[in-house]
Amino acid sequence: MAIAPPSERIWWREPIARIELIWIVIGFSWGLVMFFTMVFWHSVGEQNLSNEAYKTTPEKFQAKVTEMVEQYTVRDEAGIPVVRPPAGSDVYMLGRLWQWYPLLELEKNQSYRLHLASMDYQHGFSLQPVNLNISVHPGYDMVMTITPTDSGEFTIVCNEFCGIGHHLMIGKIFVVE
Ligand code: CUA
Repeated sequence: MAIAPPSERIWWREPIARIELIWIVIGFSWGLVMFFTMVFWHSVGEQNLSNEAYKTTPEKFQAKVTEMVEQYTVRDEAGIPVVRPPAGSDVYMLGRLWQWYPLLELEKNQSYRLHLASMDYQHGFSLQPVNLNISVHPGYDMVMTITPTDSGEFTIVCNEFCGIGHHLMIGKIFVVE
């Protein structure tokens, strides 16, 4: 029993049984395999994000979002602006209780640098149905380069519980030809 003190106080000087040693070696080796798989899979696996993160503040990030919204809004949906920034540019989306803002319209096969940050608490950006996921925090600007390869309407759900309106926190990215 692990709760009771060991009968021999200097228990680590006890000889190790061969079978126990074998298990320790197997367990440790498997740990190493799993560790290096993470490193290997980051470059080989296609589902891993190579994102960058920068320090920011909600005020600074909000200012970037506002600037983009004022320049490139093309229409609105239920009162939320749909923004169509130029291909290749930096695009901004913020998460806050309980909204992804603004909605984006992007061109197929063009690359954008997508910036994400939270205005308040932690949110989870989850792009469906491609299942691209990233945590969004206040104070950090998470940047990734995205190139939409399919046109259509993509839904963003929040996958980090953030309070009473969590399930209503839905955004959209429209990809057009
Ligand atoms: Cu934001 Cu859940």
